[in-house]
Parts: sequence; C-alpha cells; structure tokens
Amino acid sequence: MSFQAPFDTFASWLAAAEQQEANNPTAMSVATVGAEGRPSQRMVLLRSFDERGFVFYTNLESRKGHELRANQHVALCFHWKSLDRQVRIEGLAEAVDAREADAYFASRPRDSQIGAWASRQSEPLASRAELDARVEKYTALYAVGKVPRPPFWSGFRVVPEVIEFWEERPFRLHHRQEWRREAEGWRDLLRYP
Ligand SMILES: Cc1cc2nc3c(=O)[nH]c(=O)nc-3n(C[C@H](O)[C@H](O)[C@H](O)COP(=O)(O)O)c2cc1C
Repeated sequence: MSFQAPFDTFASWLAAAEQQEANNPTAMSVATVGAEGRPSQRMVLLRSFDERGFVFYTNLESRKGHELRANQHVALCFHWKSLDRQVRIEGLAEAVDAREADAYFASRPRDSQIGAWASRQSEPLASRAELDARVEKYTALYAVGKVPRPPFWSGFRVVPEVIEFWEERPFRLHHRQEWRREAEGWRDLLRYP
C-alpha cells in the first residue's frame, strides 16, 4: 500500500522496525487523560494503520477504555531503540466499527479470544485462582464453534492531528520533523532538538 506524507514515513519506519527490533516492533505507549486532568499511560500493540489512523484493541471497560470515552484526546509514542527513532502522535480516539473489530477478533488465537472473555481488565483481582476459574468457565462455555467477540472488547482508531518523527543525530543535534493536519492537508516544520 502506498501512502501520502506523513503516513509514508511512518510506514517506512515501521517496516524498518519490523526488520530490526528484537521484540514487539508495533508496541506503543498510549496516554489518556482521566478525571481531574490526570494523565495515565500504558503500552499496547498497534494492530493496523492507514491514512485514517492508528488502531489498537482493548477492553472497553478498562481504565483506558473509560478515560477515552470521557475524553477522546490521546497521545501515542513509539520508540525503536535499535533504530534510534521515536514517533509521537497526538489525536482523537474513535471506536472502530463492529465489523472491523469482529474481523480482527476472529483472527486472534482461540486462547487469546477466551482470555478476552475471562479478563475484567483493570478491575481488582482477588487471586490468580479467580482468573484461572474464569478462563475455565469461558473455555467450557465456548467449547464448540467460534468464540464470539465480547461486547466489551473492541478497538480504538487514533485519528492523528500531529505526528512527529524524531531521529538521533550526533552531538544530540537530533532531527525533529513535525507534521500537523491543516484544512488543506498536512504541513511540516522542523523543531529544535
Ligand atoms: C508490549 C505490551 C503490549 C501490550 N498490548 C496491549 C494491547 O494491545 N491491548 C491491551 O489492552 N493491553 C495491552 N498491554 C497491557 C497494557 O499495557 C495494560 O496493562 C492494560 O491494557 C491495562 O491498562 P489500563 O488499566 O490502563 O486500561 C500490553 C502491554 C505490553 C507491555
């Protein structure tokens, strides 16, 4: 697939990371804002991207799920250590549609599908035994046939407004190129490192 700027750069940097990073080249931090304007962040895996935005999947009842529904503003950050590159993205998270989420859920390993049912993500867990019991329960419930997507599990697409590409350069004179979405398209500028 070929992309317009700045998505073309993202695609080529991700492809390089997929070649070079030892683990989880698609890992990114997702920062959300909770009540009282307090930020929180965690790593997730980027599952797809195109010019519409950057998609990850999660439990909608998790902390991030609640925070994103109350406040769509989100910031992503990729760091590819082996490439000395960072990408920062700011934008608005919107729910992916049910068909897209169903297709992605269906592509997951069966045990991960059962795990999605069993995990009440971000809720207090009394013991590992409680989690094991829930895994057993859903394994039995969906012993035959396809595992349906839980209604509380889906994806968010981060529709970007700002994308910054950062690349290490000697003497800390790094290269920072920031792209900003404007009415007539994307415009870029450089920033001091
Ligand atoms: C490398 C890595 C990838 C992860 N991928 C995901 C993911 O794709 N979706 C997800 O919900 N949690 C993922 N997690 C777990 C989250 O970091 C986090 O613990 C979980 O989503 C609960 O976050 P919350 O309580 O802030 O909602 C990942 C963790 C790591 C370290």
